Amino acid sequence: MQKISVKGGKPLKGEVIVGGSKNATLPVMTAALLADSPCSIQNVPHLNDIKTMTQVLGKLGAKAELKDHKLSIDPAKFDKFEAPYELVKTMRASIYSLGACLARLGEAKVSLPGGCAIGARPIDLHLKGVEALGAKVTIEHGYVHAKASKLKGTTILLAGPHGPSLGATVNVLMAATAAEGTTVIESASIEPEVTELVDFLNAMGASIEGRGTPRLVIHGGKRLKGIEYSVLPDRIEAGTFMIAAAITRGDVTLKGAEISHLTAVSEKLRQIGVLVEESDGGLRVRSAGDYRPADVWILPYPGFPTDMQAQIMALLATVPGVSVITETIWENRFMHVFEMNRMGADIAIDRSHAVVKGVPKLTGAPVMASDLRASAALILAGLVAEGETLVQRVYHLDRGYERIEQKLSALGAEIKRLD
Ligand code: EPU
Repeated sequence: MQKISVKGGKPLKGEVIVGGSKNATLPVMTAALLADSPCSIQNVPHLNDIKTMTQVLGKLGAKAELKDHKLSIDPAKFDKFEAPYELVKTMRASIYSLGACLARLGEAKVSLPGGCAIGARPIDLHLKGVEALGAKVTIEHGYVHAKASKLKGTTILLAGPHGPSLGATVNVLMAATAAEGTTVIESASIEPEVTELVDFLNAMGASIEGRGTPRLVIHGGKRLKGIEYSVLPDRIEAGTFMIAAAITRGDVTLKGAEISHLTAVSEKLRQIGVLVEESDGGLRVRSAGDYRPADVWILPYPGFPTDMQAQIMALLATVPGVSVITETIWENRFMHVFEMNRMGADIAIDRSHAVVKGVPKLTGAPVMASDLRASAALILAGLVAEGETLVQRVYHLDRGYERIEQKLSALGAEIKRLD
């Protein structure tokens, strides 16, 4: 199994180009199934999750091919409706086939995702949404089976105990484009990846009002055609490089970052004492003087993103004083704490709070990544740790970061992949 070796101590300097967004590409890929002709999607990152979604589309009969960063999707032979366990267990976003299959084929069979390293992954809101549109849902042998001879527009409240759901909004949006009449989604997720899907569907010919707001109004039944589209930049990859600049007391310019999607991260970094400035076509992040501890509340967008929680923790672990991070989205997303503590960090967990006491130095160690963002955080910690950090289970990282070791190494980091 591959590992990543990082030797800490080099301040990162230079420019890095932010790639296309993983979490925006995945919904767009399934939405392309709703078109009556092929779609061509640009700026698609080369990631394992994108490969897995390509396989899901293949299982459904569609053709998807990624060359360079351009993905062609031909839905002509999309006539199967089952997303099997083998694919759903490696990537929960396979659940998006529920909305797409119901919309186009009137039937969907998708393996239940179950839990994962960051917590329970319920899909009750997805099911509530498609049932409200008229689908009959049964759960048998670990699969959700949904059937609808006709979908009918209605008003659906998608609020859950932890706020809105990105995934449920994606599924209901897709199904609602095929429903007769008007569907209103209240408490829709307003994450940029949902807004991207709304833009994509509207460009295909759908009629969806309320982009970027928690109230989406979908006038169903429109003919959707294949289009050319370019996916927005990945705000979590950008945020991860911002922290890489901050933690190494470096000076990095992110090219192509969408600044408006990074307000919470920029504001928190500024509070800590990091200089974050808009620069020509991007964002410049550098250190200036001492850092201060901070309290970070993880909240739905536009709050501080859960997908940046582990990374900001790595930074705060090196900042003198006491910081508190409160995770409100995923109940079990603190697995990286134990590995960071093995590197000399001083972090204690009390239910949904992590109390981070900054230490003067971290020391390199062999560490185990538990999920995608935890892997990135351990690499960030390794960038400033004394000696070598060996990050294992790199397959988590390859789900969401394209060539991260090459990008960091181009900025001056001592990092390499070992076979
Ligand atoms: N929830 C429910 N019921 C549901 C669905 C969700 O209670 O039916 C709860 C979840 O348990 C969670 C909260 O609602 O507490 C938010 O979950 P959401 O459905 O928004 O998450 P998701 O769509 O499964 C996406 C990203 C995650 C990211 C979250 C939150 C993708 C493929 N995944 O997951 O990204 O953490 O939104 O922003 O877009 C990652 O990229 O590393 C990652 C985990």
